[in-house]
Amino acid sequence: MNALGAKIAITGCGSSIPPQVITNDDLSRLVDTSDEWIQTRTGIGRRHLASPDTSLSDISAQAAQEAITMAGLTPRDIDLIILATSTPDDLFGSAAKVQHLLGASNAVAFDLTAACSGFVFALITAAQFIRTGVYQRVVVIGADILSRWMDWSDRNTCVLFGDGAGAVVCQATLREDCLLGFDMYSDGKQHHSLNLSYKGQQKTLKEKVNISQGSYHPITMNGREVYRFAVVKVPEVIERALVRAGISSEEIDWLILHQANQRIIHAVAQRLDIPSEKVIANLEECGNTSAASIPIALDEAVRDGRIKMGDIIASSGFGAGLTWGAVIFRWGI
Ligand code: ACO
Repeated sequence: MNALGAKIAITGCGSSIPPQVITNDDLSRLVDTSDEWIQTRTGIGRRHLASPDTSLSDISAQAAQEAITMAGLTPRDIDLIILATSTPDDLFGSAAKVQHLLGASNAVAFDLTAACSGFVFALITAAQFIRTGVYQRVVVIGADILSRWMDWSDRNTCVLFGDGAGAVVCQATLREDCLLGFDMYSDGKQHHSLNLSYKGQQKTLKEKVNISQGSYHPITMNGREVYRFAVVKVPEVIERALVRAGISSEEIDWLILHQANQRIIHAVAQRLDIPSEKVIANLEECGNTSAASIPIALDEAVRDGRIKMGDIIASSGFGAGLTWGAVIFRWGI
């Protein structure tokens, strides 16, 4: 193993949030809901939505460029780009388009799909390439435009989600190892709880040769099941990642969970005995931006000075699959 590649630092972050906004009051004119219901059940006040001429690749490249600049690098320094998304512009993948938009001509790029766990899964994947010495400078992007896949007449789902992209740069370092611990899981038995599924109709090409032709259908979710799953599994996976990191929950400076629901965030923090001052949340402004929610929240807190160099962050993503994972890292050394 390359000695330089063994240790990991997370040295830059960035985000891109579309300017268009839809408030809870706006939504109450589209479906039978209210600001009061949405605020008390979820903590969401507004969400930002991508316009028809904004692509997933555009916002991903913007977030990545900010992260690369913060890390003091240029796109040509990047070896690998991992784009975590469930809503690529192209089902064949959007990471290579992002590579092109950035001008990251020395990088290889690929998509990774794990819904709202996507960013955490992609960060852990990036870390393996650095640990083994294969790559030295990796951009990890979490981005989703779920507004394109929403049933805007379904109040159970359309009030929850927003669009956006966030990114980090992970680098090999000779200094302290900042990726302290992680853990990740999936449980396909609960796949039915949250779906954005392909549905097709049979088409006969010739006798005894049938195929399916169709398209993806809007999100369906059993909110109560996902809620119950999250409040049990998220504290567990963070506790396991903390054990692997060899630290206790008191040593955590910041908790950044996937921004699905303020009540889930509160319940997890309580279970882990983490005081509310250490919890970073931006649900009020952004809603649930799926794979983007953790890096957007991280970027905001780094840029407004809450997160400081060397702070220890516990982060957990969870969602469709069902999938869940946690990563414990030190910011920016
Ligand atoms: N406005 C008003 N009423 C509503 C709305 C709405 N927008 N949505 C649902 N209701 C109604 C329901 O119809 C139900 O009415 P009923 O009792 O007459 O049937 C009632 O409110 C309560 O519904 P619940 O589903 O029990 O509401 P709950 O308190 O569980 O909140 C919510 C729903 C916010 C979806 C919650 O369950 C939740 O956050 N679940 C987790 C979602 C999540 O974490 N997703 C993460 C992954 S996302 C990804 O991977 C892409």
